[in-house]
Amino acid sequence: MQEFADTPEGIRDAADVLRRGDLLAFPTETVFGLGADACDGAAVAKIYAAKGRPSFNPLIVHLAHARDAKTYVKVSDQAQALMDEFWPGPLTLVLPLLDNSPIAAAVSAGLNTLAIRVPNAPLAQALLAEFARPVAAPSANRSGKISPTTADHVRVGLGDRIDGLLNGPACKVGLESTIVGFDPDPVILRPGSITADQIATAIGKSPKAYEENDKITAPGQLTSHYAPNSAVRLNANSVQKGEVLLGFGPMECSLNLSPSGDLDEAGENLFSALTTLDQSGAPIAVAPIPDVGVGIAINDRLRRAAAPRD
Ligand code: TXA
Ligand code: MG
Repeated sequence: MQEFADTPEGIRDAADVLRRGDLLAFPTETVFGLGADACDGAAVAKIYAAKGRPSFNPLIVHLAHARDAKTYVKVSDQAQALMDEFWPGPLTLVLPLLDNSPIAAAVSAGLNTLAIRVPNAPLAQALLAEFARPVAAPSANRSGKISPTTADHVRVGLGDRIDGLLNGPACKVGLESTIVGFDPDPVILRPGSITADQIATAIGKSPKAYEENDKITAPGQLTSHYAPNSAVRLNANSVQKGEVLLGFGPMECSLNLSPSGDLDEAGENLFSALTTLDQSGAPIAVAPIPDVGVGIAINDRLRRAAAPRD
């Protein structure tokens, strides 16, 4: 795997990896993505192979500019309002795919919708502007494993399976983007740092929570996901013998997501902390996290990390 620096030359060379139809990991504000040219079916197939990802789990397309979305999907007034408010940023919209869209069929796994987003991390923006084509990118981890928020997580998890890594700082948000679909009313398909309340304010209507949604699904939302090798026990008010404790707020613990009890900070640290504690080989107990705001997304990821494995 070749590494590229955050310099104009590094960004040019990184975009060349995508132009060749190869795989490039790159940082976004949420997590590192594993990118390929979204219009090149052979390149997209390499993403599924490198991650060991089931072919029914569709990918998110990353664009440099919100104005490009209309080339690929039908943009409703509500979708436009969300784009105006939150793009660039950690929001993904699932919208009807246009018939003549050049996006490779494997990206949407045969669905007639496409997930798209415009990231705001400067390095992701620079890469997308340089490549000037849509980039399909799931999180840059092996399927079912913890999402990467640092370049080192990518090196360890996928280093021998991908062609390039655009080296950048740790991800600021640390949790994958909020995903909103329409049935035709807005539905949160995956909670993230942009909350249901923020979405309600932007469109004047409360989105349905993902549990209330019975028509559309994010097919990749498998119960066991983000799984460390060790067992995970949630809402732990005390540690049991042999466990390491992942804390929140002022307390004694092995690692603390946010000693001051700040949920944004906890989201930023979550995947890194799970990765670090997993190296101890001990079972991981996790202190209760308030189920409000970003805490909803943190608890969603923790429940999947703790779920029974296949
Ligand atoms: O923050 C993020 O969104 C990161 C960065 C790299 O942008 N990407 C990411 O991708 O989290 P991934 O592949 O790990 O998660 C994509 C999710 C999956 O749960 C998938 O099922 C859902 O998006 N998805 C993609 N296309 C969809 C569609 N057409 N309809 C419903 N869900 C879709
Ligand atoms: Mg993922």
